Amino acid sequence: MRRIGVLTGGGDAPGLNAVIRAVVKSASNSNGEVIGLEDSFDGLIERGRWRKLEPKDVTGILRIGGTILGTTNRGNPFAYPVLTNGGTRDYSARCLETFRELALDALIVIGGDGTLGIAHEFWKRGVPIVGVPKTIDNDIVETTNTFGFDTAVSFATEAIDRLHTTAEAHHRVIVVEVMGRYAGWIALYAGVAGGADVILIPEIPFDLEKVAARIRARDQFGARFSIVVAAEGAKPIGGRRTVLREARAGYVERLGGVAGVVSAELERLTGKECRSVVLGHLQRGGAPTSHDRLLATRFGARAVELVLEGRFGHMVAVQPPDIVAVPLEKVVGRTRTVPPDFDVVRTARAMGISLGD
Ligand code: F6P
Repeated sequence: MRRIGVLTGGGDAPGLNAVIRAVVKSASNSNGEVIGLEDSFDGLIERGRWRKLEPKDVTGILRIGGTILGTTNRGNPFAYPVLTNGGTRDYSARCLETFRELALDALIVIGGDGTLGIAHEFWKRGVPIVGVPKTIDNDIVETTNTFGFDTAVSFATEAIDRLHTTAEAHHRVIVVEVMGRYAGWIALYAGVAGGADVILIPEIPFDLEKVAARIRARDQFGARFSIVVAAEGAKPIGGRRTVLREARAGYVERLGGVAGVVSAELERLTGKECRSVVLGHLQRGGAPTSHDRLLATRFGARAVELVLEGRFGHMVAVQPPDIVAVPLEKVVGRTRTVPPDFDVVRTARAMGISLGD
């Protein structure tokens, strides 16, 4: 009998519940027991923030977004923000204590780069950890895909479809801002799938004169509207990203606002009516696509297999056609960005889509 702790950390992503369900079902089918920790590592810091998860507790959650365990992206136990003085405090010893008190044999940590970095620190301190990569941004190295990404791309593509209606009717330029932090995967995939005319990604700094030239050229051949997809991390050549809130102790910087800036500048350069739309957290909501449910279920089941095999300090990953185990140290501190010569970038260029360079 193995007693497995499970937690979800960082921003929610569609498919988190599917992983929890897979962990609980496969553990219970292998004579294991699962303890769900609430709100990421808060479940190890604060007393009583855990509950036993049985198959009946995860019935029906496969298709539900969010996470039944709750999450946070400001709960790093090694640098926990202290609201009263703006500093941070180290609660890692308390987490180790709770882990022992709960008599856990393993901890499955489902999260993005930040959460997996914390998991790695605990692994170095002797906690038997298995990581599961999660993010709509698709920016984790050593895995070709993370669940949540396909759902975000599908939503953004539908939004681009809908924005075409107004853009075309009013002969407008519409700039759509999508998430992705420092990687342009969502913008690139949704932009190509949605038939955007311009795609701006962090990996390829843009020149708005070039974008304006593309919009004018479209006007000349009779397409009097344009759709620009801007990743939130996109930035001008030699310029800076648009930031809503700077990083501070225990908090990462919050990106956002690039669509408004680009839209205002394109209006000045082209004389056309320009509007901006920020898709924001809508991209993280709703039911996961079948692709994300399947990937999340495969990840959850494989994570339990690793626990049963006693293979700790690893993250499950998809390297088609297999789900493999990758050492956490190969993953943490790295970001998987779009290679500028990547096939989909070249496809976009072949379609005549401007990448702003
Ligand atoms: O990492 C996922 C993500 O949605 C990013 O794309 C985005 O920059 C960030 O999280 C937003 O975080 P929050 O929900 O804290 O505003």
